[in-house]
Amino acid sequence: MGSEIAIIGTGYVGLTTGACLAHLGHTVVCADIDPVKIERLSRGDVPILEAGLDELVQEGLSSGQLRFVLGAKQVVGDVEFVYLCVPTPQGDDGSADLSYIQSAAEEIGPHLRPEAIVINKSTVPVGSTRVVERALGRSDVFVVSNPEFLREGSAVFDFLNPDRVVIGAEDQGAAIRVAGLYLGLAAPLQVTDPASAETIKYASNAFLATKISYVNAIAAVCEAVGADVNDVVLGMGYDKRIGNAFLRPGPGWGGSCFPKDSRALVRIAENAGYDFDLLKGVITVNEEQFARVTEKITRMAGGSVDGKIVAVWGLTFKARTDDLRDSPSLEIIGRLRERGALVRAYDPAVASDAHPLLAGIEVATDPYAACSGAEVLAILTEWDEFKWLDFDKVGEEMAAKRVVDARNLVGRTALVRRGFEYAGIGRA
Ligand SMILES: NC(=O)c1ccc[n+]([C@@H]2O[C@H](COP(=O)([O-])OP(=O)(O)OC[C@H]3O[C@@H](n4cnc5c(N)ncnc54)[C@H](O)[C@@H]3O)[C@@H](O)[C@H]2O)c1
Repeated sequence: MGSEIAIIGTGYVGLTTGACLAHLGHTVVCADIDPVKIERLSRGDVPILEAGLDELVQEGLSSGQLRFVLGAKQVVGDVEFVYLCVPTPQGDDGSADLSYIQSAAEEIGPHLRPEAIVINKSTVPVGSTRVVERALGRSDVFVVSNPEFLREGSAVFDFLNPDRVVIGAEDQGAAIRVAGLYLGLAAPLQVTDPASAETIKYASNAFLATKISYVNAIAAVCEAVGADVNDVVLGMGYDKRIGNAFLRPGPGWGGSCFPKDSRALVRIAENAGYDFDLLKGVITVNEEQFARVTEKITRMAGGSVDGKIVAVWGLTFKARTDDLRDSPSLEIIGRLRERGALVRAYDPAVASDAHPLLAGIEVATDPYAACSGAEVLAILTEWDEFKWLDFDKVGEEMAAKRVVDARNLVGRTALVRRGFEYAGIGRA
């Protein structure tokens, strides 16, 4: 028999969690403060791009296992479990801003059933379980940490096929009740204390960011010594202790999690008296990567992009998502525009320039139109379909046949054969 669950915050994490838990047989009500989002979701119109999510939302709405409600306090009185999936953006000093968590907890506190469990899925610093407990103002409910590790772009798959489920709880009984929600999943279950659970999330994201910065630094070395980073990472990845996942050079890491979580971990460590120099270096290498790619594009355009059209393929922070938050592509476009470039961009998941983060960027509706009159084409997101485009046609559109491939995505040899100048990352 399924449980009665409320989800507070219906974004990438909350909506995925709600739809997947309904799919696993629970009865789920998802709440959000955004009336437009709730209205759309209630009609089965999913506002984000996530493979398989539309189908699960439809399934839940049809079976009655899933519904959407405006406002959090109305939905928590009837349920045993309440998930907090609200944002924890970067605060002014780099630490995580807990104000959304706090206000959501204050709002729901008086309405919770005795013995209810509040499950924190938002990424929060060590000690936040206490913050939530205080904001709830209740001694007869439990707070459990249950960090989420899904990747945008494959959120549904990742939720239903996790590498692990981590539960951080002071109370063993509460941990067992939360573990019961995931019985349908074949994944290792780790029960630990809340501080360790919260640290696992930050340590994992910071480690992944470290891997990317490391490979980008190796790419810089490869350029300097005349090695090919693609071959280098292939050779490294055969070593099982290293593995080949997340060893791809690129324009730098971004997205809604790595930048804020790595900075938050630096802050967490600092507040606890540890200077996390290694992680600071990882962040610096990433900033340098944005600068290196911007410089590469400028050089390819003949030393200046001032007044020139730069075509960009890829705006989202990675392929298979529509999320533009902290996208390396937008970071690099911003730097090019500061140098006077006129940027015309194409992205399969971005239909128009209506998004506030796209102000000043011309968004084309097809990849060839984006190249019209361009002095250089920069490939900044690794959408698979870019590999299969007609580069003869691309060349005809462009003012000069020049490509900077910041994802090492397209075939260098084929482009050179077609008369393009080509620069990748970490390759001579
Ligand atoms: N996006 C990811 O890939 C990912 C992965 C793992 C963990 N996380 C963490 O999960 C948390 C949520 O991230 P997200 O990407 O889903 O955020 P999001 O911005 O996509 O969604 C958050 C939602 O919460 C809603 N909200 C804010 N305050 C609310 C309130 N008081 N009551 C009801 N709804 C409220 C917002 O309107 C929004 O719809 C963050 O802490 C993030 O770090 C994110």
